Amino acid sequence: MTDIAKAGTFSLGDRTVKRLGYGAMQLAGPGVYGPPKDRDAAIAVLRAAVAQGVDHIDTSDFYGPHVTNQLIREALHPYPDDLVIVTKVGAKRGADASWNPAFSAEELTQAVHDNLRNLGVDALDVVNLRLMFDVHGPAEGAIEAPLTVLADLQRRGLIRRIGLSNATRAQVAEGRRITEIVCVQNQYNLAHRGDDALIDELATAGTAYVPFFPLGGFSPLQSTALSEVAARLGATPMQVALAWLLRRSPNILLIPGTSSLGHLRENLAAADLTLPDDAMVALDGIGAA
Ligand SMILES: NC(=O)c1ccc[n+]([C@@H]2O[C@H](COP(=O)([O-])OP(=O)(O)OC[C@H]3O[C@@H](n4cnc5c(N)ncnc54)[C@H](OP(=O)(O)O)[C@@H]3O)[C@@H](O)[C@H]2O)c1
Repeated sequence: MTDIAKAGTFSLGDRTVKRLGYGAMQLAGPGVYGPPKDRDAAIAVLRAAVAQGVDHIDTSDFYGPHVTNQLIREALHPYPDDLVIVTKVGAKRGADASWNPAFSAEELTQAVHDNLRNLGVDALDVVNLRLMFDVHGPAEGAIEAPLTVLADLQRRGLIRRIGLSNATRAQVAEGRRITEIVCVQNQYNLAHRGDDALIDELATAGTAYVPFFPLGGFSPLQSTALSEVAARLGATPMQVALAWLLRRSPNILLIPGTSSLGHLRENLAAADLTLPDDAMVALDGIGAA
């Protein structure tokens, strides 16, 4: 079994986690809505992740809704002391499975209580405020009001640490004036590199950057250069995509998502792969193209 600690660790505020983690979104039903096709398989993936050393799981109560948190609780509660569960608030699902903003004080407070109940904890390890000025990507807009609500819940002991998701550089700066921001979770992978400058800034500040869709999300990455590098190194394209992120910057924490035990093992084995310089150059060309 791969020793995922080989990929190193980074901090989430005052906690340290391994750089290879797991994202639970794929465990809900189709379109991240409703229950999984195979509940036992979903539970088995979560248990296998932790058994293989994962100590950082990303989730949200709006996956399902409620489904992934309930699966995490059933699979893993009582939680190991070293496990950090990162959740997010700021959206709610419509009956048609749509993703809608939920930023009022009442909605945010309700979402925190839903997460506490469904995860079965007294305090949430990390809560990301998922910004929804544009659901598909970072867009400017003031975050003081919703972030202040979370900071108040943090003072009341219901939230331990706060991060931002789908955030611009200006919003990260604004957030820092309100409370400590321990992580930023935005879309980023070797073909989608809009956050290059932000990642470097966060690395300098010692703040974690957690790319969502590290494998391309609902349309997994496909590229000739990626396949060629993978074939040359005797790895899979998905392992190379993860190894590229690991080498891209030391503050990047990985949360690849899968509902498959085989893919989980494959993704965690990216810890065994160190990309040589010429492979990094070839892969950097994908984002530049
Ligand atoms: N903050 C946000 O707005 C936001 C948005 C999206 C996601 N997230 C978080 O980020 C995490 C990661 O994103 P994601 O799961 O959407 O996308 P991802 O990790 O980029 O890719 C997941 C997709 O790749 C497939 N896959 C995984 N491993 C594979 C492998 N080794 N070979 C081939 N296919 C593979 C999965 O299918 P199988 O199930 O068949 O393996 C799934 O379709 C999520 O779980 C969630 O926690 C956050």
